[in-house]
Parts: sequence; structure tokens; C-alpha cells
Amino acid sequence: MSDFDIRSTNPADIEALETLYLAAFPEEDLVSLVRELVGGPTPVISLAAAKDGQIVGHVVFTPCGVSGSDEKASLLGPLCVTPMLHKQVIGSALIKAGMEEAHKSGTRQVLVLGDPAYYARSGFKPSAAIEAPYPLPEEWLAAWQWQMLDDGEPLTGQLVVPGPWQSAALWGE
Ligand SMILES: CC(C)(COP(=O)(O)OP(=O)(O)OC[C@H]1O[C@@H](n2cnc3c(N)ncnc32)[C@H](O)[C@@H]1OP(=O)(O)O)[C@@H](O)C(=O)NCCC(=O)NCCS
Repeated sequence: MSDFDIRSTNPADIEALETLYLAAFPEEDLVSLVRELVGGPTPVISLAAAKDGQIVGHVVFTPCGVSGSDEKASLLGPLCVTPMLHKQVIGSALIKAGMEEAHKSGTRQVLVLGDPAYYARSGFKPSAAIEAPYPLPEEWLAAWQWQMLDDGEPLTGQLVVPGPWQSAALWGE
């Protein structure tokens, strides 16, 4: 088990984050999304896991609206951990820390589009009732997962995402 700290990122981390994402997602280009989320004007929860002063993991939680209501939701992603340190609970710890922070700011529900086999480990359930901001391919519906941060009813409506997420290509088109 490795020792690591979790802290908020700052603009000076961008270069280290780019290196991390290129290593963790060699076949997917998420760098421009990460740059927009972490370095842009959209307020996000951006947490890094740091070990020996190096960033070894990262997660973003983006505050979102819900159509037809004043409820606050949060979109989890992207999430990654440097390949050499997989299976040391860094990913799970980043998810937990981000959910705690989102809860403190009044977020009621977290959504994630990702592998249910992984996110179920952190309490996510498949097939959220809340609609994704863009129509998802049929085969991705179960991957659209949700988790309440309180005891209330699941949210309904459509997730309203800020600028960096307003791209159909990020949603399977
Ligand atoms: C997914 C990822 C963030 C997990 O990080 P991590 O720090 O290794 O996660 P944890 O240590 O908390 O959990 C590891 C466990 O999850 C399992 N796991 C990881 N990815 C999984 C997946 N896609 N499906 C099912 N189980 C998965 C591991 O096998 C491991 O199981 P074990 O504890 O029984 O050995 C990391 O593997 C990663 O960065 N992958 C590449 C990028 C990616 O896929 N990001 C998620 C986008 S949806």
C-alpha cells in the first residue's frame, strides 16, 4: 500500500496532469478536457493524489444543474491513476474525497459515465434516471451511473453541464 496525500490542484499542476493523463489514457485524448476543467473559469472540484511530491492520480467533480429544478448535481470525471500505482486504493480515495467535498457544497447526487464494474465498488448504481446532457448510445446506458449524497429521492430531469462538457463527442457521438 502506498502513502499518498490528496489535495486540490492549482494552475501550476497542469503540466504534471497532462503527463499523468497521457500515461493513464494512452488511447484517449483527455488532455484538452482536463486543461479546460482545471485551468478554465468553470468552478470544479479538482483533486490530486500526490506521492513523494509527484502527482500520481487525479479526479474532477464538475458542479452541474438539473433541468426544471434548483437541485445541484455533480459529474465525476475524468479519473485516473498512474499505471504503476494501480490497485493501491488511490482511485477509490479520490472518489471518496471528491464526494465529501461535493456534499459539503450542497450537491445531492453524483453522476458518472464509466465502467460499472469499477464504480460499483464506490457505491454507484447503473442506469441513472436523470438524463445525460446528450443522448447516450444504447450500450452505454448502464454505464451512466448515479449515487445520492443524502437520503432524498433520486433526481429526475436532464443534467445541465457547463461549457467544457458541452461536446457530443464526450458523450459517445
Ligand atoms: C480505473 C482507475 C482509476 C482505478 O484506480 P486504482 O487506484 O487502481 O483503483 P483502486 O485501487 O481504488 O481499485 C482497484 C481495484 O479496482 C479494480 N478495477 C480497476 N479498473 C476496473 C474496471 N474497469 N473494472 C473492474 N474493476 C476494475 C482493480 O482490478 C482493483 O481490484 P482489486 O482491489 O480487487 O485488486 C485506474 O485503473 C486508471 O487510471 N485506469 C485508466 C483510466 C481509467 O480507466 N479511468 C476511469 C475512467 S471511467
